[in-house]
Amino acid sequence: MVNYNVRIAHQHDIPFITKIYNEGIEDRIATLESKLKTEEEMLDWLKDRSGRHKVLVIEDEKNTVHGWASLNVFNSRCCYSGVVDISIYISRKMRGKGLGKLLLRSLIQTAKDEGFHKLVLSTFKTNEAGQKLYKSLGFREVGTYEKHGILDGKWIDITIM
Ligand SMILES: CC(C)(COP(=O)(O)OP(=O)(O)OC[C@H]1O[C@@H](n2cnc3c(N)ncnc32)[C@H](O)[C@@H]1OP(=O)(O)O)[C@@H](O)C(=O)NCCC(=O)NCCS
Repeated sequence: MVNYNVRIAHQHDIPFITKIYNEGIEDRIATLESKLKTEEEMLDWLKDRSGRHKVLVIEDEKNTVHGWASLNVFNSRCCYSGVVDISIYISRKMRGKGLGKLLLRSLIQTAKDEGFHKLVLSTFKTNEAGQKLYKSLGFREVGTYEKHGILDGKWIDITIM
C-alpha cells in the first residue's frame, strides 16, 4: 500500500503543479481557463500569495506530487477576511483513488488553522466528481449561476458551494 503525504507546496513543486493544472484545463471539466499555463506564470501565482493563502501538495513515498490544493482570496475587503475560496486538482491518472479526499481534508484543517471560518468554491454544474468530493466533506450547494461563463464558445453553469 502506498502512503501519501500532504505538505505545504514549495517553489520546486512548480513543474508538477503546472502539469496537473494544465491537465485540468485540457479536460474542460474544472475551470473556465482555456489557455495552458507556463511554469513562470504558476511560480508568480505561488509567490504572490499572502502567508494565509497556502498551497498544499499531495505526494507519494518517492516524492512524486499527484495533486495540489489552494486557499485563494475570496474578496480583499477586510469584512470578508474569514472567508476563503478553494481550488483542488489531482493528476489525471490518479483521480478516483481517494487522494482528493485526503488533500481536501488537510486543506480544510489548514484553513481552520489560518482562522478562516468559511470555505467557498465554484464548480461546473456538471463536475460530478468534484461535487461528490465536496459534499462528502460537508460542503453544501448554495445555488447555480446559469450561463455564467464561456468556454470554447459555450455557456457554462457554475454551482457555488
Ligand atoms: C475532483 C477531484 C479533485 C476529486 O479528487 P479524486 O481524488 O478524484 O476523488 P476521490 O477519489 O478522493 O473521491 C472523492 C469522492 O468523489 C467520488 N468520485 C470520485 N471520482 C468520481 C467520478 N468520476 N464520478 C463520481 N464520483 C466520483 C468518490 O466516490 C468519493 O466519494 P465518497 O467519499 O462518497 O466515496 C479530481 O477528480 C480532479 O482533480 N478532477 C479534475 C479537476 C477538478 O475537477 N477539480 C475541481 C474543480 S471544482
